[in-house]
Amino acid sequence: LEYTVIPQSLFDAVIDHLRVNFPDEPLNASVGLCLHGIPCPLLEHHDLKTMEDGLSIMAIDKKTDKIAGVALNGISRKGETEKSIEEMKNIDNLQYRRIFGLLNDVNLELDLFTKYNVDKIFEVRILSVDSSYRGKGIAKELFVQSEAIAKKHGFKVMKTDATSLFTQKVAESQGFWVEKSVSYHDYKDETGQKIYDTRPPHLHYKVMAKLLI
Ligand code: ACO
Repeated sequence: LEYTVIPQSLFDAVIDHLRVNFPDEPLNASVGLCLHGIPCPLLEHHDLKTMEDGLSIMAIDKKTDKIAGVALNGISRKGETEKSIEEMKNIDNLQYRRIFGLLNDVNLELDLFTKYNVDKIFEVRILSVDSSYRGKGIAKELFVQSEAIAKKHGFKVMKTDATSLFTQKVAESQGFWVEKSVSYHDYKDETGQKIYDTRPPHLHYKVMAKLLI
């Protein structure tokens, strides 16, 4: 496998990879925002915007030229969560609101910018490994490579919204700590029904962070 920064010429190929593989992400699988193999415009807009920051990494299988996995990394700036919460008011897709509403609320409350006195944070936003390449340490290596590029660009703080237990394990192995952990099953709608019916072992969403200097 070869690990490289994702060039613009491969953005479409990455979107194709995500269409097939990212719907397994626990929150998505629970609320059904994106379905396997089907375009998912709201998330794909978020993916493309993130790749435009030029900090994303891909693992390519050099034998087949297939994308084995990606870490889409973006710059998160102070004040953006507040903006995103405002913008969400114009998005009527319930599934999207359920995923990003949770992430935004937790991050707004945490306010890592003030905690660590920084204006920008390196964020691992989307971690995805092709289902036929999983369990071989590719996500871990994508994290290692992402940290290297974060350091190269002078970031002081790296974070991830780890919605999957597997991402949490990877982050923990790389020295990240838990800033906040929430239990999916604690969230209920007005009728007392669970909002996030994630499958074991994915029972918590954890914001995890690491200082790079
Ligand atoms: N069952 C049990 N443990 C597993 C499994 C599994 N199916 N898959 C991975 N793990 C564990 C590994 O044992 C390892 O833990 P360890 O270090 O304690 O041994 C850890 O998870 C990471 O293993 P990797 O092999 O590095 O992970 P992989 O390359 O398989 O990729 C990923 C993990 C990206 C989560 C993959 O399963 C995937 O693409 N899932 C669908 C999308 C998703 O959920 N992405 C993460 C959402 S969070 C975010 O994007 C920031």
